[in-house]
Amino acid sequence: MKNWWKEAVVYQIYPRSFQDSNGDGIGDLRGIIRRLDYLQQLGIDVIWLSPHYQSPNDDNGYDISDYEAVMTDFGTMADFDGLLAGIHERGMKLVIDLVVNHSSDEHRWFQESRKSRENPFRDFYIWKPGRDGNPPNNWLSFFSGPAWEYDAATDEYYLHLFSRKQPDLNWDNPALRQEIYRMMRFWLDKGVDGFRMDVIAFISKDQSFPDYPEGRFGDLTIYANGPRIHEFLGEMNQEVLSKYDCMTVGEAFGVAAEQANLYVGRDRGELNMIFHFDHAVPREEERFLDPAPEFRLSELRKIFDKWDKAVGREGWNSVYFGNHDNPRMVSRFGDEGPLREVSAKMLATILLTQRGTPYIFQGDEIGMKNSDFRSIDEYNDIQVRNAWKALVERGGGDAGQFLAAANRIARDHARTPMPWDDGPMAGFTDGPATWLKLNPDFGEINVRKAVSDPESVWHYYRKLIQLRKQHPALIYGDYTDLNPVSDEVFAYTRTLDREIVLVVVNFVGQPVEIDLGGILVAAQKTLLMANYPVAADASPELAFALRPFEARVYRI
Ligand code: GLC
Ligand code: CA
Repeated sequence: MKNWWKEAVVYQIYPRSFQDSNGDGIGDLRGIIRRLDYLQQLGIDVIWLSPHYQSPNDDNGYDISDYEAVMTDFGTMADFDGLLAGIHERGMKLVIDLVVNHSSDEHRWFQESRKSRENPFRDFYIWKPGRDGNPPNNWLSFFSGPAWEYDAATDEYYLHLFSRKQPDLNWDNPALRQEIYRMMRFWLDKGVDGFRMDVIAFISKDQSFPDYPEGRFGDLTIYANGPRIHEFLGEMNQEVLSKYDCMTVGEAFGVAAEQANLYVGRDRGELNMIFHFDHAVPREEERFLDPAPEFRLSELRKIFDKWDKAVGREGWNSVYFGNHDNPRMVSRFGDEGPLREVSAKMLATILLTQRGTPYIFQGDEIGMKNSDFRSIDEYNDIQVRNAWKALVERGGGDAGQFLAAANRIARDHARTPMPWDDGPMAGFTDGPATWLKLNPDFGEINVRKAVSDPESVWHYYRKLIQLRKQHPALIYGDYTDLNPVSDEVFAYTRTLDREIVLVVVNFVGQPVEIDLGGILVAAQKTLLMANYPVAADASPELAFALRPFEARVYRI
C-alpha cells in the first residue's frame, strides 16, 4: 500500500545544535526557520525535531517538565507556530518527539507525586518500598547506577530507567494515559504531522518488577516489550493517531526483528515503523573503557536483510546510520581522511536506496565526522559524564583509555553545533560562545562550502533524493542482497514491476573487483548515479572494478 510516509525522506534536527538566532550560543526555533529554505533545496519532505518542550535539560530536552510549553532556550509557542507554518508553506511536514516513557522530575505531576503516598498524582509514577534498605530490585539505569532513587519524603523509591531526573511514568494508570493522549491531540490539532516516540517499547513494565535473571544482569533490553505494550499502543492509536493523517516512528530499543510486526504490522493498528538498534553503537557503561569493534559489512548486510525480510512487506522499515545518540557515520564506516567525501557519498547511497523510509541526521549531508574532545569537561552529555564518574572517578579506570573510547562512541559527536560557514563561530551563532564546542573541522567541513561545490557530498545527497523520487522501485521495490557474505562489496537490487535498480557499493578503502554476471543477467545497463566519474558503458556486462568506497546505481 502506498503512503506518503513511505515516500518521504526525513531529516532530523537536534534543535540545540542547528542554528542560534539570538547570540546565546544555543540553537532555537527561529534559527530553524532561517534554514528551512536550505532543507527544501536539499529535497527533504519531513523534519523530525528532537524535543522542543520545556525542560531543565538534564538530558537535553529528553526530560520534559511541561509537555505543552516550548523550552525557553528555544523560543515561544508563537515561534513554534511560525516554524510549523513555514514548514507547511514549503510543502514539508513536521514530526515531533514524544517522550512519554518518563518525564522530568520537575514536571508538576512528579512534584505532586512525591509529596505523599495519597497524592492524586502518586500513581502517575512508579513507587516501591525498598528491600531491607536496598532498592526494590536490581535494575540498572542507562546512565549508570541503580534505576531506583530513594525519596525520603515518603520513604519509597521511584523508578528511573534513565537519569534520576527522568522518573518513569506509570502507563498502567489509565488517568496518566488519558493525559498523554490529550497532550498528543493538543499538538496534532495544531497541525503537526506525527511523532517519533522515544524508547516507546519500554512503557509497559512487568508489574512483578522481577530482578534480572542470573547472568543477564545489565542486559538492558529486558525492559522492552512489556506485558501490556501492544494494548497501550493499540489504545493510543484508536484514541488519537487513527483520527489524524499522521506518521509514527517508534524508537524500539530492545525489539528484535521477530517481534517487529507486532508493532508495525499492517493490520496491527499500532505504529507505522520503528527504529531498531541492531546496528547502533553499543554504549553500556563498560563500553566507555572497552568499545565494541565496529560492524563488518557482512554483519551489517545481514541486519538489513533480516529486517527487510521480517518487516519489509508486512510492515515498513526505517533506515538510518546517524542520529543524536550515535557517533558520526563517516567516522564509523567511512574514512576521516582523504576519502571522507567519497565514503560519505557511499554511505548516503546505501541510506537512500534501501527499502524503508530514510532518516538523515543533521550534518551528515555535508559528511561531518566525529569531533575531538580532549577532556571530560569538554563533554556535555549526561551519559558520558555519569560513566566517567562511575568508571574513572569511583572505579579507578584509566582516564586515557576512557577518553579514547569516548572519542569513538560518545553521543556528543552528533551534537556539535552545525557548521554553516567558516566564519568565527561557524555561522552557528553571532555570540561569543557555543553551548558545546564546535567541531574543529568547521573551516573545511561546512554548509557554505558544500553548497557551492557541485561535486560535494551535499549535492550528492540532493541528487540521490531526487533519484529516489523518480524511481518507484527505490521506494516500493523488492530488496535482494546479491552476495550476502562479502565484507567488501555491497550489491543489491530493488525491483518493481519491470524496473530493476542495481546498487553496487565498495564498502572498503581499497580497490575491489566483483563480477555479478553469474548472479544477475542484464540486457543493458544505464548509470543513474555514481560517486566517481564513470565511463559510459551500456553493455550488459556486470563485472566491475571499484575504486575505494566507490558507489554506483544502475538501471538494468
Ligand atoms: C532515547 C533518546 C535519547 C535519550 C533517551 C532517554 O534513547 O534518543 O537521546 O537520552 O531516550 O529519553
Ligand atoms: Ca538561541
